[in-house]
Amino acid sequence: MYSEKVMDHFKNPRNMGEIENASGVGTVGNAKCGDIMRMFLDIDDNGVIQDVKFKTFGCGAAVATSSMATELVKGKTIKEALEVTNKAVMEALDGLPPVKVHCSLLAEEAIHAALWDYAEKNGIKIEGLEKPKSDISEEEEEEDY
Ligand code: FES
Repeated sequence: MYSEKVMDHFKNPRNMGEIENASGVGTVGNAKCGDIMRMFLDIDDNGVIQDVKFKTFGCGAAVATSSMATELVKGKTIKEALEVTNKAVMEALDGLPPVKVHCSLLAEEAIHAALWDYAEKNGIKIEGLEKPKSDISEEEEEEDY
């Protein structure tokens, strides 16, 4: 059911933890399943993501997608990080079962929420970044669980 990469990132999550005094912190939840993800970003003066950590209170697919998402945004610019969509994360993981696709939205939204927090703290506007949702289930399509 799950690809080897998903299992690997689930069993050995990369960048798990938190960053003290992070440049930006974002927390996103899914009210339907109750899962929560928090993303911490350390962004330098050039707008490059030097470090990223996450904490996920959620299912295995949420853990694996957050882990892969942190790997994909680390060392990237803010603009590049915005291109790390849930689809890009899923591709990097060799796919997710259809009923688990919504879990990957948590990672995307958590990155956006952390970037939003960073922008607010610094009084800047990040082009292309929309105010993130705190609950991703609002935008989920009707699905059978
Ligand atoms: Fe809730 Fe996966 S079941 S995020």
